[in-house]
Amino acid sequence: MREVVSHGPEDTHRLAAEILSSLPDRAVVALYGDLGSGKTCFVQGLAEAMGITEPVTSPTFTLVNEYKGGRLLTHVDLYRLTHPDEALAMGFEELIESDGITAVEWAERAEELFPAGTLRLRFRTPEDGQTRVITIDEG
Ligand SMILES: Nc1ncnc2c1ncn2[C@@H]1O[C@H](COP(=O)(O)OP(=O)(O)OP(=O)(O)O)[C@@H](O)[C@H]1O
Ligand SMILES: [Mg+2]
Repeated sequence: MREVVSHGPEDTHRLAAEILSSLPDRAVVALYGDLGSGKTCFVQGLAEAMGITEPVTSPTFTLVNEYKGGRLLTHVDLYRLTHPDEALAMGFEELIESDGITAVEWAERAEELFPAGTLRLRFRTPEDGQTRVITIDEG
């Protein structure tokens, strides 16, 4: 378990690049935390580090976006789900077996569906609102 304080979006991008460099070719990254805590910002950092030039936006309405960079980036957002069964219905189990990196926002919506080896990142916005505290849980 490691805790990092990010002082701005660029810091969060840098952390994403650093984490990416230590991930295997295929990995699932589960992102937890409130609205505006920086989950999409982190995925944008992953995309940048993977050489993806397309703008990465939150797939809140589409649930999943795929980007092809040096390898595949699958970006999932479970915000709109109310029950893990809905994740199953959208093919979540197949999605997290995708090649490349699969990053899932609002992972708390489908906690029990993540495979062993999932990297979990928890985002918090402290009172001052200007920083983000990111906890990295490799367990
Ligand atoms: N240190 C920081 N890291 C990331 N984002 C930050 C930071 N400081 C301020 N911000 C701002 O906070 C916002 C984070 O938004 P982002 O869309 O990444 O949140 P989110 O966790 O994906 O929210 P949602 O649950 O709505 O999808 C952005 O507007 C960003 O500019
Ligand atoms: Mg988001």
